[in-house]
Amino acid sequence: MFYLLLLPSACQGPAAIHPPSTDPVEELAELAPLLESPAEAEDLDPAEGIVHLALEAARATYTVGGLQIEGYAYNGQNPGPTIRAQVGDTVVVDFQNLIDTPTTVHWHGLKVPNDMDGVEWVSEPLLPGATFTYAFTATQAGTFWYHPHLDVEHQVDLGLYGAIVIEEPADPVPDRELVIVWDVWAEADPADEHTAPDPGTLLWTANGLTAPRVELAAGEVVRVRMINASNAGYLDLSWPGLRQIGSDQGLLPAPIAPASALLAPGDRADFEWAASNEDFEVATAMYTPSGGSALGDPLTLLSVEMTDSAAPGSALPWSGPTDPPSADPTWTDIVYVLQGGAAAEDWLINGESYPEVTVETATLGEASVIEVRNLSATEHPFHLHGQSFEVLSVDGVPPAMRTVEDTVNVKIRQRVRLRVLADNPGDWMVHCHLLGHEASGMMTVLRIE
Ligand code: C2O
Ligand code: CU
Repeated sequence: MFYLLLLPSACQGPAAIHPPSTDPVEELAELAPLLESPAEAEDLDPAEGIVHLALEAARATYTVGGLQIEGYAYNGQNPGPTIRAQVGDTVVVDFQNLIDTPTTVHWHGLKVPNDMDGVEWVSEPLLPGATFTYAFTATQAGTFWYHPHLDVEHQVDLGLYGAIVIEEPADPVPDRELVIVWDVWAEADPADEHTAPDPGTLLWTANGLTAPRVELAAGEVVRVRMINASNAGYLDLSWPGLRQIGSDQGLLPAPIAPASALLAPGDRADFEWAASNEDFEVATAMYTPSGGSALGDPLTLLSVEMTDSAAPGSALPWSGPTDPPSADPTWTDIVYVLQGGAAAEDWLINGESYPEVTVETATLGEASVIEVRNLSATEHPFHLHGQSFEVLSVDGVPPAMRTVEDTVNVKIRQRVRLRVLADNPGDWMVHCHLLGHEASGMMTVLRIE
């Protein structure tokens, strides 16, 4: 049996789903809607180097994949407005909580000051009606996102999330950029049995649209920034000529061309699409956290259409920092053992359930080696706040190139070793980004002092 965990109607809270429209004209128009990036937040401050935004969380009714959702939204849109800044900019967000329950805003992947991180462990939740000004300097380039960090399983599910794009002015300039925030509106509960989800229950959306299309003009080169904002849905993406140029923490040292790209909940990846003469489809393999690739036909998520057939676009020289990978030392500072059983309350880190946790410490300014061991029967996207980390090895095997992330999927029985340069002081959350697991206590605290 599956729980329809992410169907807002199956959630607590105000959501309800109405049946899709049966108007044939409307249905036809919805067949392949044109995908666009989410609207961007307006910068209220004309000064250079300052991005000043107003953000409010409120109840909202919106349409997702032909379903009318009564959920929550930031500034009335789902996904919420994209926050765009350049490395070095000060970002100021005047936030107001207009939902009927306490919330916070967390800036996933960004090294913000500890008291700006939007977590209950450090700061008071924002009660209904409360306002708070978040401010931080954007120090890292890449694709990030924001979402509540309280009652997170329901609030993210109901639509509270948005993209953050931090630009590095030295990056190659594409003809266009496309931000795609993926979510799924019905899926199997990963805490449930070790079975694959029924593909029929999956309703993946890209910026709220089901199976949309993207048009590429002749010669066009697009930087595609993807975010998996779903509570528990894994994407195992593929298309012909897949070229990945970035991951959680900005551009890779060099582009790669893997057969597929796994995007676990919380993960981001950047890709390059250069118009060729061929239309193509972006698909996901059936993938579950309880067993990886599962049986079932791939699901087409969107189609990319060439509007004319002139010369293909030419690839740009994407490259992030090219430091060589750090060697995996023989010592370990902190071990996190991921455990869990069949019962949803069972998800633990080192045998503990948040908030009754042992606070591990790391020394400010030093590199710490963290080993994550997954002893449970499901995969977990392991996420650390306030820092980034380098993946030293997976089951003893170092990555082909330096890999810097803030969220890393740890497969069943895997042992992943991470190097954290502890450069941001404070108490930081460490947790699984399957939001049901996080809510059930699969979270702990790393103190950097
Ligand atoms: Cu995206 Cu602690 O979360
Ligand atoms: Cu988990």
